[in-house]
Amino acid sequence: MAEEKVTVPGIRARKGGTRITMVTAYDYPGAVVADRAGIDIILVGDSVANVVHGMETTLEIGLEEMIIHTRAVKRARPKALVVTDMPWLTFHLGPEDAVRNAGRLVREGGAEAVKVEGGRKRIPVIQAILDAEIPVMGHVGLTPQSVHAMGGFKVQGRAVEAAREMIEDARALAEAGVFAIVIEGVPDMLGQLITKEVGVPTIGIGAGPDCDGQVLVFHDVLGLGSGRYPKFVRPYASLADEAVEALKRFKADVESGEFPSDAESYHLSDEVAAELLRGFGSAG
Ligand code: KIV
Repeated sequence: MAEEKVTVPGIRARKGGTRITMVTAYDYPGAVVADRAGIDIILVGDSVANVVHGMETTLEIGLEEMIIHTRAVKRARPKALVVTDMPWLTFHLGPEDAVRNAGRLVREGGAEAVKVEGGRKRIPVIQAILDAEIPVMGHVGLTPQSVHAMGGFKVQGRAVEAAREMIEDARALAEAGVFAIVIEGVPDMLGQLITKEVGVPTIGIGAGPDCDGQVLVFHDVLGLGSGRYPKFVRPYASLADEAVEALKRFKADVESGEFPSDAESYHLSDEVAAELLRGFGSAG
């Protein structure tokens, strides 16, 4: 567990310092585990749509679900900073709507900051959210909410002009006041360039080793997924395989009568048992 509560100013101050760790968590046990490991930031990511709800894209998850998942994470009272994704269409209809929705994530969910996907186009809504005293984390590169506009989940910024545009987006976000920027799915050199160009910490996912921090999806780090992971994922455990093995053993023990054992059963006192059996003749 982090020694002290991780704060937005604390993360901002980590630019160029000890690398920042962030993982997603979507529920109470996930938050407890992430916090026990001393992770700096818990992201209640809209990847919950794919990872937990089995949806095809993050476009399917809404504000109400994000509030519920954030509340579950916050019940763990993590030392980690809790940042929640603003789901698709909760910040596209104008600054007022965006502030109202970000406010609900904070007031009803307990989010300590929100993450907004997109670059310069999103500056007016980001400024409005910041004006409401809600810290904002930016997100550039492969932004999954733009899956249809991008024509699929593809590495972004491979061409010079696209890379320059992304650097401009990141600069504009930093100037607008975001406290950190996620860079997702870009060539390592672009991750490095953006990190040099902006004065706030960058947190990479598939953006090479030179960002100020790294983020991975909880289920990917722990090997709790399907077993097929993108190139940028390093699974540090194979918990899905372990879970299957454990459940197979449970099934076998139940079927053979090995479970539950005497030690795993509750017992009546001898007097109560004798009294009870009197009414039933010679049971047992
Ligand atoms: O929703 C999510 O998990 C994310 C991370 C990939 C950064 O946005």
